[in-house]
Amino acid sequence: MRLSRYYLPVLRETPADAQIASHRMMLRAGMIRQEGAGIYAWLPLGFRVLKKIEQIVREEQDRAGAVEMLMPTIQQAELWRESGRYDAYGKEMLRIVDRHDREMLFGPTNEEMITEIFRAGVRSYKDLPKLLYHIQWKFRDEVRPRFGVMRGREFLMKDTYSFDIDEESARANYNRMFVAYLRTFARMGLKAIPMRADTGPIGGDLSHEFIILADTGESAVFCDKRLVEMPTPKKDIDFDGDLQPVVDQFTSHYAATDEMHDDTAFAKDVAEENRIAARGIEVGHIFFFGTKYSEPMKAYVAGPDGKDIPVQMGSYGVGVSRLAGGIIEAFHDDDGCKWPMAVAPYHVGLVNLKAGDEKTDKLCEELYRSLTAAGVEVLYDDTASRPGEKFARMDLIGLPYQVVIGPRGLENGAAEVKRRSDGAREEIALDKVADHIAAAVKDALRYD
Ligand SMILES: Nc1ncnc2c1ncn2[C@@H]1O[C@H](COP(=O)(O)OP(=O)(O)O)[C@@H](O)[C@H]1O
Ligand SMILES: [Mg+2]
Repeated sequence: MRLSRYYLPVLRETPADAQIASHRMMLRAGMIRQEGAGIYAWLPLGFRVLKKIEQIVREEQDRAGAVEMLMPTIQQAELWRESGRYDAYGKEMLRIVDRHDREMLFGPTNEEMITEIFRAGVRSYKDLPKLLYHIQWKFRDEVRPRFGVMRGREFLMKDTYSFDIDEESARANYNRMFVAYLRTFARMGLKAIPMRADTGPIGGDLSHEFIILADTGESAVFCDKRLVEMPTPKKDIDFDGDLQPVVDQFTSHYAATDEMHDDTAFAKDVAEENRIAARGIEVGHIFFFGTKYSEPMKAYVAGPDGKDIPVQMGSYGVGVSRLAGGIIEAFHDDDGCKWPMAVAPYHVGLVNLKAGDEKTDKLCEELYRSLTAAGVEVLYDDTASRPGEKFARMDLIGLPYQVVIGPRGLENGAAEVKRRSDGAREEIALDKVADHIAAAVKDALRYD
């Protein structure tokens, strides 16, 4: 992509009301624009990040055996009356009336709708288990939308729903999501720690929040350091096999958010040098809730003995749009973002320091073409901005590599290649640049 054709409205000033780094940087780097309280337009650069996050989430859901679909954003109040949540949800629900005076709402989540869809199509235990998901915008009229996309009112969520005949089988689906989440966040460069979460009236141990540690996180969290060091399950893990040992491994050490935290147990179970008391961002939440919706909404299936029983359900959310902010919180410096390759809006920024000069233009064009042909995603700064402005902009948007072509390099037959993550610089011969970058990108995108 040529920057001259792109839409990248970089802000010079730091927006005054943006309190955390990711919010500031997303606004400044022209990734998002606020269109209302907690409502954002995703500008081209931000949109690419959002799509990459979404795609990783999708790939890991698919790998785990979940099946993608798409439910609408607008729902009927009727459905929510069946579960009893239409009144219970309160002011967080954005309620809408259509031209026929029918009560509608903008979905804050989809348990009711998926239960309705399920009961229309499944009759027998033989059709179970089922694991269905979609990636769709939600609206919650949060009291305090803040921190940009971290706590928005309109936000993109991946939500999966499981349907099982009994608790044992439900646990297998729960474990699938548990492992899929570990992999999902790891592929984005994040270490998300599963922490016991409140299951409410249902009880049991089947609810975990996936938390990334960050000073600006909204929750206080407490965990054992050994969890941070635990290896991520590999991509060849058998999702139809027994995942309990993996789940046990990740749940065998202390990890709890504020609401579930127990100071005495923390002190007793965790050696002092392993205690982490920090702040965290909730990027995912998995939950088994049994027959909470299937019972009132009559999602029954015939069991092996022919008797109808309510199906056992769980739901599993990932904050796709929140992750864009969360990843910046984890990877940035004072100058801007430092995107991990897997979610970077482009892999490399090609900087033409003397746009308009025949020689540099020609060289940049050639490099642009050869990099693109090698499968590298390039943002080519072909604008007439001053070098200082170009460098600052590239650092701000934080692409993993910068390839700088200027008159000096032309003389030496070399480009300067800068790695954004650690600032390392290398001079690389012009005829080797494309291969060098392509190899580095490929290497960074490899995962197991
Ligand atoms: N207001 C919001 N803005 C952005 N992301 C959100 C918001 N609310 C929830 N999410 C994301 O969606 C995931 C699933 O939501 P859920 O657990 O139902 O929400 P909550 O924890 O607010 O009750 C959360 O883990 C979080 O990553
Ligand atoms: Mg939650």
